[in-house]
Amino acid sequence: MSKAPTLRLDRLLANLGYGSRREAQWLVSQGLVVLDGRPLKDSDQRLAVTPDLSERMFVQGVALDPPPGFALMLNKPTGVTCSHKEVGELVYSLLPDRWRLRDPAISTVGRLDKDTSGLLLMTDDGALLHRIISPRAKIAKRYLVTTARPLEGHEAGRFAAGDLMLEGEDKPLLPAQMEVLGTHSAHLTLSEGRYHQVRRMFAALGNHVEALHRDRIGQLDLPADLTPGALRILSPDDLDEVFRQI
Ligand code: URA
Repeated sequence: MSKAPTLRLDRLLANLGYGSRREAQWLVSQGLVVLDGRPLKDSDQRLAVTPDLSERMFVQGVALDPPPGFALMLNKPTGVTCSHKEVGELVYSLLPDRWRLRDPAISTVGRLDKDTSGLLLMTDDGALLHRIISPRAKIAKRYLVTTARPLEGHEAGRFAAGDLMLEGEDKPLLPAQMEVLGTHSAHLTLSEGRYHQVRRMFAALGNHVEALHRDRIGQLDLPADLTPGALRILSPDDLDEVFRQI
């Protein structure tokens, strides 16, 4: 079993956005940081950083934020951008204020377009992020597509063929699976992620994507009760679902 990393208590609190190290030391000196029911006395003591710390540690009476090395899912609403610096509303504004002060920072695992809604993963764990977005991982992403014009019946075959070229590119797309749901709607499952891929795939066939919603990554579904703008921390089982191949 790998050993949990350790961090000084004041460094842990500062990295989680509770303030400067000096402010963290003050919280400890006031008995406001409690572990396993007992106030911690020593802000330079080293603690094993394990996920269960947020159940065992309280700061000013409130459970500790998720320790470093965590991931979350967000039901991204349309109209918000997956970026740290563009104008307009950013996905990071949907996180609790303190989470935006964390070091390491929380980043999106890939991106969804501003006009796309649905399942977006975020993490502060760079290695995990790269494991998910690596083209070699070929993690499937499923989209619910609503088209402007009726589907014609040939789309699934064209997408599955593995020879569709997008405008301006020189490498054909990998085969993608499409399941028709209605006259103007389908599920499309991709195992790669090119710029505006779904919109450009339908444009290549002369249609137009009216609405786009991601509802699955790997085998992890967006929960029906996670409302737009809401987030949930991923459990180890959720992460297994992301990587589960069928
Ligand atoms: N394909 C798109 O066109 N947009 C997205 O946001 C995701 C996939």
